[in-house]
Amino acid sequence: DKAGHKHFMAKEIAEQPGVIGDALQQYITAEGEINLPEKGIDFSKIDRITMVACGTAFYACLTAKYWFEQIARLPVEVDVASEFRYREPPIPERTLALFVSQSGETADTLAALRYCEGKAQTITSVINVPESSIARESDLALPIFAGVEVGVASTKAFTCQLTVLFLLVLKAAKDHGALDDAAIADHISHLRGLPAVLNTALEQNDALRDAARKLASARDVLFLGRGHMYPLALEGALKLKEISYIHAEAYASGELKHGPIALVDENVPVVVLAPRDPLFDKTVSNMQEVMARKGKVILVSDNKGLSEANEGVWSSIEMPSISDALTPILYAIPAQLLAYHTAVAKGTDVDQPRNLAKSVTVE
Ligand code: F6R
Repeated sequence: DKAGHKHFMAKEIAEQPGVIGDALQQYITAEGEINLPEKGIDFSKIDRITMVACGTAFYACLTAKYWFEQIARLPVEVDVASEFRYREPPIPERTLALFVSQSGETADTLAALRYCEGKAQTITSVINVPESSIARESDLALPIFAGVEVGVASTKAFTCQLTVLFLLVLKAAKDHGALDDAAIADHISHLRGLPAVLNTALEQNDALRDAARKLASARDVLFLGRGHMYPLALEGALKLKEISYIHAEAYASGELKHGPIALVDENVPVVVLAPRDPLFDKTVSNMQEVMARKGKVILVSDNKGLSEANEGVWSSIEMPSISDALTPILYAIPAQLLAYHTAVAKGTDVDQPRNLAKSVTVE
């Protein structure tokens, strides 16, 4: 049931404020305490984290790496499961092995989990399907409460994964004394405001549809982001290629001049994901290098960012403001809607893109 939407993907994008609200209700008590299932995780016994996943879930892990390292001061390694499992990396003591999977059945992720059995201090998974293999074989399985995701391209599972991972980051920051109670309470209050802010972001639907109509005729699209917006640029590019079949690549903004800028000309749209955060000026200077080579920029930023850097851009999309830490969850909405409307404009099969399966149970 598409609940009045043209595609499951559109419905699932629109559901995000609600399902994230559900996840927050499960994991935060009325008093504002983080509430993990009984066993929980004692991060004071953990010195490092190794995160493993595939595809969109991998990009959720990459985002969480920035959070764990910057907010909780815990070192994190992130791997795609198909590489991790055959590289057979040494797992030091006091390692938390953390697996992220919507379906909980992804063959490579499951194999990576089995490799960590008996080696990692504890095996935790962040999953959408509680009765899945990955959930059953974990010491602790944390459901994301996204509800059934039908569209092959993952949307609401991604933002729910990020939400649950962010809560783990806060728990780790608390156990490690990296944040005091007031700072944690501040993050929790921003988290609780997230559903309302996501609803405001969804109001940019028409602006994103207009921008997407321009993207639909492109052969190649670049996505740029810095810091924790870099994994989101990767996710935006993956979404676009999956459902519109346009070739899309993402780069960390600072990498632009180390090669990819050679691709830029008047035929290459460049999507820049740049909230007005401490890295904004650096990203804007990369964006100006793109425009100097006639690249067509779609700038996604907030009111403050756009008022400083809107000049000469091809399209701009205004996001509401939120704490810096939560921008990856918020900016997932324009990344998803850009891909969605581009695919609709091209007439591709949005919910069942060619060659893709919802759950990859063979390697
Ligand atoms: C992208 C997408 C895939 C999955 C990947 C992992 O939109 O859906 O990249 O994220 O196949 O699947 P799960 O999360 O089920 O392990």
